[in-house]
Amino acid sequence: MKIKTEKSTKKKTSLLCGFVLENSNKVIGLPKFDIKITSSINQSLKDMDGKLGRLSIIPIPGKNPVQRILLAGIGKKDNLTKDTIRFVSGKIAQKARELKLKEFSIITPPNFIIEPISAISQIIEGTKMALYKFDKFKSEKIDTIPELTVIVSKSNKISKAIKTAEIVADGAIFTKSIANLPPNECTPTTLANFAKIISKKNKMKCNIISEPELKKQGFGGISAVGQGSKNEPKLIVLEHNHGQKNDKPIVLVGKAVTFDTGGISLKPGSGMDEMKFDKCGGCTVLGIMKSVSELNLPINVIGIIPSVENMPGGESYRPGDIIKLFSGKTAEILNTDAEGRLILADALSYGEKQYAPKAIIDFATLTGACIVALGTNVAAIVSNDERLTKKINDASKRTTEEVWELPLNQDYMDMIKSDVADMKNVGIGRAAGTITAAAFLKNAIENTPWIHIDIAGVAWTQGATKEKSYNPKGATGFGVRLILDYLQNL
Ligand code: BES
Ligand code: MG
Ligand code: ZN
Repeated sequence: MKIKTEKSTKKKTSLLCGFVLENSNKVIGLPKFDIKITSSINQSLKDMDGKLGRLSIIPIPGKNPVQRILLAGIGKKDNLTKDTIRFVSGKIAQKARELKLKEFSIITPPNFIIEPISAISQIIEGTKMALYKFDKFKSEKIDTIPELTVIVSKSNKISKAIKTAEIVADGAIFTKSIANLPPNECTPTTLANFAKIISKKNKMKCNIISEPELKKQGFGGISAVGQGSKNEPKLIVLEHNHGQKNDKPIVLVGKAVTFDTGGISLKPGSGMDEMKFDKCGGCTVLGIMKSVSELNLPINVIGIIPSVENMPGGESYRPGDIIKLFSGKTAEILNTDAEGRLILADALSYGEKQYAPKAIIDFATLTGACIVALGTNVAAIVSNDERLTKKINDASKRTTEEVWELPLNQDYMDMIKSDVADMKNVGIGRAAGTITAAAFLKNAIENTPWIHIDIAGVAWTQGATKEKSYNPKGATGFGVRLILDYLQNL
């Protein structure tokens, strides 16, 4: 999607969009039109009343450079959130596409409505993300993407804000586009190839560890889960080293199970197709790394993605097996469907040992229990560090990618004690499933600040997902905007 800026509201455009606050009877920033047009605008204003998400189009007759005006309701001023302009802008973009327009213009609201940099970011993220469509496998592709003109009042920081927002949105779109791929088209090797492509484009270091090297180096979790599939497991490592040489890096880890059948502890058939989204954590890390390198952030960031396919078969790992993880600790397998924690534990220990990081953040569609606890619009966080948790909470408030903390004390650690090994890969029954999974991960880390983000409910649109224009059906790219905000504010 092409984006231009413009200072005048009087340029030629097929759709000029302005925001309207509820009960205000005014289109924010709209220039003056003649009496006839003004009276149609007023009539439309009365009808739509600025109600949140409502759109109203007024065709302009004659030779006016503006062909149509679009009024976009943003609700009451007191109810404005850091998401309102984003999702209303997304609706505007989808309307422009529906009308098959080649271009449209949005008037940026002024300072007294919303801080201008935030407004610009939201307009760009909202429109770009809303226009993304997963149509790779559709024979007929009819949509063209309209070009956006953002109308801004002069400010010298604007062009940087636009570029940043474009890169952030592109990161989220990249994450969605690979997360949406079907499991026959996206194996661990495919993901490794995507990592190679973005590392080459943006000058990151990229290292792929495969079998038999994984086994030789002690990645017992990744090897065990991966051994049942003919699509071999991979450990993908990306390095963005643009900080000081001795600056400790931030390590990002993402679960990438390209398909989770449950293995020998097979999942029920109904809805199993959704387990193509079990790679979303890894895809999030890939999207973040792509944007981090394009933004050229002056920090060191490492992305680590353990990737496997969890399949049942003659060579699969089994319930009852005892395996040795990269940390040296042993794990008794009681359910092969609790595979995510095994591959993540290896990656977390590797990240800590290899990079001595400042902080480790992991993303995973780890537990169905997370959906039971928090639903499909909020991710669970579990951490061993209050300061890191606060920073992620702050970034969450700024980006509106919502998180909620769950506790992790010794009692939960005790719930994964095994009779025969150092720990077991499930808790006690279904009690606190999200936390006992996190407890398993905590054992992989010695003393680095760490936060785990369970994105099982939010990584793709499912049953109770709140409709958002910028998250059409499928993968949402959750975490990309959140962590890019955190990294930019370090
Ligand atoms: N990938 C699933 C978790 C999941 C389930 C995410 C549904 C999103 C929607 C994970 O590998 C899994 O199967 N977890 C089990 C763990 C259990 C066996 C302890 C679960 O949540 O049922
Ligand atoms: Mg599973
Ligand atoms: Zn899984």
